[in-house]
Amino acid sequence: MPQSSASPRPAPIVTVVDHPLVLHKLSLMRARETSTSKFRQLMREISLLLGYEATRDLALEEIEIETPLETARVPVIAGKKLCLVSILRAGNGILDGLLDLVPSARVGHIGLYREPRTLDAVEYYLKLPEDLPERDVILVDPMLATGGSAVAAITLLKQWGIRRIRFLSLIAAPEGVQALNEAHPDVDIYLAALDSHLNELSYIVPGLGDAGDRQFGTPAE
Ligand code: PRP
Ligand code: URA
Repeated sequence: MPQSSASPRPAPIVTVVDHPLVLHKLSLMRARETSTSKFRQLMREISLLLGYEATRDLALEEIEIETPLETARVPVIAGKKLCLVSILRAGNGILDGLLDLVPSARVGHIGLYREPRTLDAVEYYLKLPEDLPERDVILVDPMLATGGSAVAAITLLKQWGIRRIRFLSLIAAPEGVQALNEAHPDVDIYLAALDSHLNELSYIVPGLGDAGDRQFGTPAE
């Protein structure tokens, strides 16, 4: 994406949130024996912690309020509320955690599945708030493997005129981070872990398996 000559942007930021609670919860999620309900609960909890980091630089403005003691000027988030966009299906687990953190956020959904043979991201659903271009977006999906799904979703959001997009995920492979950085260098990435590599089926190793199937208890294909 071309960079503005008025304000050149440094390289994309990849933030790995290595807080002990995040690392602990992620380790439990990775374990094969972790139940579906525990997996969902952990994803919700860990997402809240990642969301805390991903929203650290939200702009503030001052408003005047009355405390029980006096009139005070206090900071609140400036501008239109955030929009959270979930890549279906697996993104919905992260969405739940982020909505705990920002309950008033608007929500969009992009239905994409990774075609197992070609690995192409196939779009099957799209529902976004009408005033989306006026909002900052946090796009969520727990797995950044080849990067195909995230790149396709961000391309779509940019076609809608979104100015600022952050991508929040649990686990990425180096291949996915590189693909996303190359296609959309203006998008900052927030992760709980950057894993080793992709296997021959383009699953993240060591990873946690299929995030959608583990979250919803559906059989692996
Ligand atoms: C998973 C995951 C990402 C995608 C990542 O979704 O949730 O969307 O794969 O792979 P990529 O980086 O190589 O594109 P999947 O296609 O399995 O769909 P699901 O969420 O419906 O299970
Ligand atoms: N999708 C997943 O759910 N897991 C992976 O490891 C790769 C893609």
